[in-house]
Amino acid sequence: MRNIHAAITGVTGYVPKDILSNADIENLVDTTDEWITTRTGIKERRILKEPGKGTSDMAVPAVEELLRKTGTLPEEVDILICATVTPDMQFPATANIICDKVGIKNAYSFDISAACSGFLFLLTVASKFIETGSAKKIICVGADNMTSITNYQDRSTCPLFGDGAGVVMLEPSEEYGIQDHLLKVDGSGRNFLYQKSGGSVSPASHETVERREHFVFQEGQTVFKVAVTKMADIAVEMMEKHNIQSDDLTWLVPHQANLRIIEAVARRMGIKREQVMINIQKYGNTTDATIPLCLWEYEDQLKKGDKLILTAFGGGFTWGAIYLTWAYDSK
Ligand code: COA
Repeated sequence: MRNIHAAITGVTGYVPKDILSNADIENLVDTTDEWITTRTGIKERRILKEPGKGTSDMAVPAVEELLRKTGTLPEEVDILICATVTPDMQFPATANIICDKVGIKNAYSFDISAACSGFLFLLTVASKFIETGSAKKIICVGADNMTSITNYQDRSTCPLFGDGAGVVMLEPSEEYGIQDHLLKVDGSGRNFLYQKSGGSVSPASHETVERREHFVFQEGQTVFKVAVTKMADIAVEMMEKHNIQSDDLTWLVPHQANLRIIEAVARRMGIKREQVMINIQKYGNTTDATIPLCLWEYEDQLKKGDKLILTAFGGGFTWGAIYLTWAYDSK
């Protein structure tokens, strides 16, 4: 019996139209375009400004476009999974809201929470439904409205984040698709990157809001060091496990948190700049959306059989790598 792989058969993305540039951030906190550019690689990010709109409102246009692009009817979708740390609300799942807004009625849906590694955890979980034959079409959404939890009084975090959604279709393939995954967590890292209040341990109160504890808190330097080591280690482990030489790898698709982290990981893997997907300069860190947004933007350059390693690191701590072969030539 031949192995069935879960292959990406389509990719789309959505970013809000409003741009928050480094010059705009200079007007909010004590910083400079030069500091942000040299320390992070970010020049601008997209921001969902419309009141009453949230994560699902960015995912919906991307899912609708994916259905159109792949010639899929809403009723053909078996499962929709959304990776996000900024759900529309604590419950129900944002995935359910997306299905309702798009008219997907026969699928079941749920959310996954693994911070910036969420899209890798999502692809891994989804691939198991495909590999076992229990689903034929799964929509995987990575979407975050990070600016809704960004503290624009904190200069060490506010330049980093942006909003966006990236979506892929997963379907069975005998040859191409996800070949392997490596996922890791270390919960002892939870206090270096998190949202202090708004959960069951510290529910929202007047005081927690006054202390601005519903925004992202990060000890940047600690996270930076661990991120470089863990992402590079796991990507190199994946290369060695599958005997992939630097020249054999077509693309590295890294989580976009900091250009210096991406460059350090590429150096450890021995690959060239031209082999790395990078769009952090335009969007900043969109958490669960960074990897699918990269695939969307580079789709034109992808060819059937290309070898890709996806890698990410995020709060939790969580990190991982996926090795996949691309399933189609883009038209
Ligand atoms: N503008 C100007 N100065 C700033 C600043 C800003 N926006 N933010 C911080 N600084 C200052 C600090 O106050 C500090 O000043 P000091 O030396 O007088 O105390 C100095 O710059 C260095 O701060 P530091 O935090 O050491 O900077 P850094 O080089 O580590 O860069 C980050 C900060 C946040 C860009 C970086 O740590 C980072 O990218 N961290 C990881 C992000 C990440 O990967 N997240 C996880 C995945 S989601």
